[in-house]
Amino acid sequence: MKTVYREDLFADRVAIVTGGATGIGLAIAEALLMLGCDVVIASRNRKRLLTSARGLSEDYGREVLPFTCNIRKRPEIDALMDATLGRFGKLDFVINNGGGQFMAPAAQIREKGWNAVIETNLSGTFQMCQAAHACFMRDHGGRIVNIVADMWRGFPSMVHTGAARAAVVNMTKTLAIEWAKDGVLINCVAPGTILSTGMHNYPPEVPEAAARVIPLKRLGTVEEIADSVLYFLSPAGSFTTGATLRVDGGGSLWGDGFQIPDRPDTGAGPIPPWPEQRWPQHVPDE
Ligand SMILES: NC(=O)c1ccc[n+]([C@@H]2O[C@H](COP(=O)([O-])OP(=O)(O)OC[C@H]3O[C@@H](n4cnc5c(N)ncnc54)[C@H](OP(=O)(O)O)[C@@H]3O)[C@@H](O)[C@H]2O)c1
Repeated sequence: MKTVYREDLFADRVAIVTGGATGIGLAIAEALLMLGCDVVIASRNRKRLLTSARGLSEDYGREVLPFTCNIRKRPEIDALMDATLGRFGKLDFVINNGGGQFMAPAAQIREKGWNAVIETNLSGTFQMCQAAHACFMRDHGGRIVNIVADMWRGFPSMVHTGAARAAVVNMTKTLAIEWAKDGVLINCVAPGTILSTGMHNYPPEVPEAAARVIPLKRLGTVEEIADSVLYFLSPAGSFTTGATLRVDGGGSLWGDGFQIPDRPDTGAGPIPPWPEQRWPQHVPDE
């Protein structure tokens, strides 16, 4: 990775990155390390955490603390905060990047699948914010960045994550107001379609189809998302709170990524079959 920021910008800073072992989160962790920040990466899969922490530590010559944490479980979040403060003595930044969803038509999402996505992407993000505020930021200030998604025109085929991410955008505004007095700045980054590990969960034609309807005619990179997060954490972002930055190549403004089936009574032909067989309902793991 290369950076436009000064390399010691975050010396003596401490960050937690959820989902920091893979994809966008890994790029954020790497960008922070490059600027001298101490980093804790937190997610559920211990093996991936250990592998990424070891690789990052070797590349940047700093300890990276891997911590196993399911953000759907508040006791595990509290343990994450304790471990961070125990090891580094402070917590300056939280990047709520951990999340997941699956493609399915709204009519077919079962209760368990709906709850899993809401609990991870909305409730988990809120619990992380509240825990970070309670354990350190209420008394010392801090910066929080929530990773959301391009759900501005609705999110057909992923209603659960669209609802959760829109709620996080609103939650972010509320926390920005309530916690301003504590010196806590909180913002969102809304990635469009990004060439990342998360893409493996979708049908193989999704990246190319998405690139066709993005005005910049390509997918975003994990580094471009990481750089946007750095802006909110850096002195350049010191007067910005409650905001959401869309990093989507203009994809939220234009394009018809979702084809609306014709109704049979319009005479325009039969409704095409929903491609549900290609998108099996996969509920995120416990
Ligand atoms: N790639 C895109 O185009 C795109 C676009 C918009 C938004 N996003 C969002 O950006 C974030 C990163 O996505 P990505 O593309 O880098 O995919 P990814 O590699 O699948 O990242 C998701 C990360 O979240 C972690 N995670 C999931 N559930 C968790 C839980 N309950 N507790 C703790 N950690 C959890 C995963 O680790 P474990 O499974 O080990 O827990 C994984 O490291 C996600 O929130 C994603 O929805 C991605």
